Amino acid sequence: MGGEVLSKFQAPKGVSEYYPPNSQQFEYVRDQLLRTARLAGYKLIELPVFEDTEVFTRGVGESTDVVSKEMYTFEDRGGRSITLRPEGTAGVMRAVIEHNLDKGQLPVKLFYTGPFFRAERPQAGRYRQFYQVGIEAIGFNDPEIDVEVISVAQTAFKALGLKKFKLNITSLGDSSSRENHRKDLVKFISGLKLDEATLARAQINPLRLFDDKREEVKAAMAKAPLLLDYLNKESKQHFETVQGLLKNIGIDFQINPRMVRGLDYYTGTTFEFDHQMLGAQSGIGGGGRYDGLMSSLGGADVSGIGFGLGIDRILLACQAENSLPAELNEIDLFVAPITEAGKAAAFKLISELRLSGVTCDMAYGDRGLKGAMKAADRSGAKYGLVIGDDELATGNCQLKSMSSGQLISSNLDASDLLEKLGKK
Ligand code: HAM
Repeated sequence: MGGEVLSKFQAPKGVSEYYPPNSQQFEYVRDQLLRTARLAGYKLIELPVFEDTEVFTRGVGESTDVVSKEMYTFEDRGGRSITLRPEGTAGVMRAVIEHNLDKGQLPVKLFYTGPFFRAERPQAGRYRQFYQVGIEAIGFNDPEIDVEVISVAQTAFKALGLKKFKLNITSLGDSSSRENHRKDLVKFISGLKLDEATLARAQINPLRLFDDKREEVKAAMAKAPLLLDYLNKESKQHFETVQGLLKNIGIDFQINPRMVRGLDYYTGTTFEFDHQMLGAQSGIGGGGRYDGLMSSLGGADVSGIGFGLGIDRILLACQAENSLPAELNEIDLFVAPITEAGKAAAFKLISELRLSGVTCDMAYGDRGLKGAMKAADRSGAKYGLVIGDDELATGNCQLKSMSSGQLISSNLDASDLLEKLGKK
């Protein structure tokens, strides 16, 4: 051995990690978001975190930062180009096409959750591995479905107790509206003094220039023609119906005709939720319609709409608003045995109680009464139970409420304890 000291490993730069006790908040936020999707009839789709690179270059679009700068792309052992998913929609469409999901009952309503990967410059709320809950509703170009998707997000935020967020919406219209606008926008852009790279981006998708953060480009774009003014009759009607339906169910929104989403597949209704206490990375979720995506990936010409919600940022928003319940995943019962025989009895007891759905744990190691009580305190359990020689001899015990200190007499058996714990 060379005697060199192995340096401590650290997680890769810019990833988000969750471990107890904070991971309980993360889990709670994710589960509330998923619950709301399930309530609206969405079903789980579980997909690989890596795909053929082309799924994203074709699906998400080459003019986007996501594809041009932020993908984790590598060659696998078979020489295939593989990319860690930067977003969920393109992969879901790949799976819908591959497994013919769009050939059955429509709409196909799917939800997913898991890690996503973008090689962005890390900062508060912006990570290289982050987590989303997403939904996709595939099959109809109905304003009602647009509003359902938006309202699932809104309902989820409300369920988490969030108040300080705003919804921005716009419409990118149908292909003929976009074509008419594109002609005028390209003409407008050709009159601007722009660098090569910006012009190249504009050539793929001129709307990208509305998203440019540089002051000089912002100023130059102030008078650019807006797509919202180019919507044809059908697109206009669709967008007006969406607004009416949103009002009808009491969802406040702001129309933002300059909003550009970071992915190229969008058409028609698009939206973003911003949280007011998060600073620069304030987007807690966004989505929209993507009517050409499936056909561009080799599928039928089927319309779809969905969203991605950023779990990491929503957790930060909940922390900023202090909206999460104080107690999460609380342990119901902590058993503290103080003799060898007590240990065996405790182990049997918690095994039985767990079968009946009681969350319980026990003190391990040889700690004596004091140490065992300390462990009970630290466990955050609602009730504590000591098992020593007396309890075993008499078959009676005392459940102790860890918050009030109140004692409740019980038999030392699972059935009576279940009743006393209110779990029967
Ligand atoms: P997106 O706007 O790129 O959309 O991402 C959705 C959400 O993911 C963002 O609003 C944000 O909360 C979170 N997010 C994105 N990047 C990061 C990051 N680097 N660190 C932390 N959070 C981040 C999509 O991904 C689309 N697939 C949404 C969609 C589904 N559109 C239609 N269907």
